[in-house]
Amino acid sequence: MNQYSTEIERRRTFAIISHPDAGKTTLTEKLLLFGGAIHVAGAVKSNKIKRTATSDWMEIEKQRGISVATSVMAFDYDGHKINILDTPGHQDFAEDTFRTLTAVDSVIIVIDVAKGVEAQTRRLMEVCRMRKTPVIVFVNKMDRDGKDPFDLLDEIEEELHIKVRPLSWPIDMGQRFRGVYNIYEQKLNLYAPSKQYVTENVEFKDINSPELENYIDPAQAAKLREDIELIEGVYPEFDVQTYLAGDIAPVFFGSALNNFGVKELLDCFIRIAPSPRPVQAVERVVDPEEDNFTGFVFKIHANMDPNHRSCIAFVKICSGKFERNANYKHVRFGKMMRFSSPTAFMAQKKEIVDEAYAGDIVGLPDTGNFKIGDTLTAGEELHFKGLPSFSPEMFKYIENADPMKAKQLNKGIEQLMDEGVAQLFVNQFNGRKIIGTVGQLQFEVIQYRLLHEYGAQCKWEPISLYKACWIESDNPQAMENFKKRKAQYMALDKEGRDVYLADSGYVLSMAQQDFPDIKFHFTSEF
Ligand code: G4P
Repeated sequence: MNQYSTEIERRRTFAIISHPDAGKTTLTEKLLLFGGAIHVAGAVKSNKIKRTATSDWMEIEKQRGISVATSVMAFDYDGHKINILDTPGHQDFAEDTFRTLTAVDSVIIVIDVAKGVEAQTRRLMEVCRMRKTPVIVFVNKMDRDGKDPFDLLDEIEEELHIKVRPLSWPIDMGQRFRGVYNIYEQKLNLYAPSKQYVTENVEFKDINSPELENYIDPAQAAKLREDIELIEGVYPEFDVQTYLAGDIAPVFFGSALNNFGVKELLDCFIRIAPSPRPVQAVERVVDPEEDNFTGFVFKIHANMDPNHRSCIAFVKICSGKFERNANYKHVRFGKMMRFSSPTAFMAQKKEIVDEAYAGDIVGLPDTGNFKIGDTLTAGEELHFKGLPSFSPEMFKYIENADPMKAKQLNKGIEQLMDEGVAQLFVNQFNGRKIIGTVGQLQFEVIQYRLLHEYGAQCKWEPISLYKACWIESDNPQAMENFKKRKAQYMALDKEGRDVYLADSGYVLSMAQQDFPDIKFHFTSEF
């Protein structure tokens, strides 16, 4: 315990993740409504780039503007300070989402009852599993017909590799959806479409009581009793510690659009979700309740204004209290810095803050001092561990299209990579630069931003690559032989590590066969 304990314990910092269209934006908006942070539905603009708009620059610029405002949405609810960290909806920016997950203490996953577990949910859950992040699942769109809830729970367990425990249970779905039985609070929540709240909230300790038929029709009552009996038989009792350890995910059902089940989710969330958790640094584990400030940069947002190449570096506070105008150490530079206008994000407004606590996010105006993963401390030599880089899915050579602007191009590439827009590899054989991304849209964003922010023109040239593999070996001779044999395919990543760029799955498996002493990794940390 220390002087900041009360502040720290009331904080809940989390992200909502989903496959596009499952209802993340809608749920976020309803949560903000409960927190009084906004007053009308529709105030949170969907911050997604519609998939049809891949080349619509206005759309991207608009998106960037909106997403600065909605990067962190904070509000007070029932004595708690809630920080929702927004994640980009578009899958081409999945890396951004991965990094945001390094700054949250827990996650709510939204799943569309009709679609079940989708590709992006699977990938994001992998990151949560790696970090043992506690997750709550919200099955959305119960006002529509969808999968059988038991089948869906099996699917979640199988596809997301996590045990589940329903804490509420739907009474039918689609047109016949009548509400949910809240197992956690032993209450019956009844539903009327478009009423914008749970119409009736009846305490119901014993669903076997004949009173149930006063609320729902006999067939639905019988089915509910049968289902609950099955749940109690099949699923273990809910245990908060197992959830906090990231081993079990409680599941809620509802309809974000109809505001059904959202308050119930939020009420349970503030009770069980973790306050800021200890964070692993290279040197030691940092406890949020330590007196001294520590934090790390998890996201850098370029300014919309191309004339001022300023950015906002988003810092997650890991311990202690952050104060405006105090001197903090930028560990990578080994120098002290002061921040005179740190911003916090309350509701949808950005404002200058004088202090912030572990769990909070502050935005620091920056002119190129920060890289993703940088640590700030009160003076200690400490390095927070970021997330490893994953092998990109797409690769292209980047070439200079304007010989007069080579310097601008190099600077632009370097800064965009520091911001984490994509990954850069430099071929060791011919020195050519290769950019690796998750999706096509990132190439378009890079080209556009190089031109508008750095006055540099680039062009893309195709290169056919399958995966980037970080390689390692205990056998220096084997390593040398491998590098010699694959000289044309060896590159350095931005940290100067050896990366083998395999041009096909077949070639990679041959290499694995031919060089048993070499280990091939698809992430940069192993
Ligand atoms: P996302 O951020 O996860 O991409 O999803 P978003 O909230 O934008 O929701 C995607 C679509 O699903 C929206 O419809 C939204 O209205 C709808 N939706 C969200 N929750 C529910 C729900 O509980 N029930 C039903 N029936 N629909 C829901 P849209 O037509 O794409 O957009 P809009 O024109 O309604 O904004």
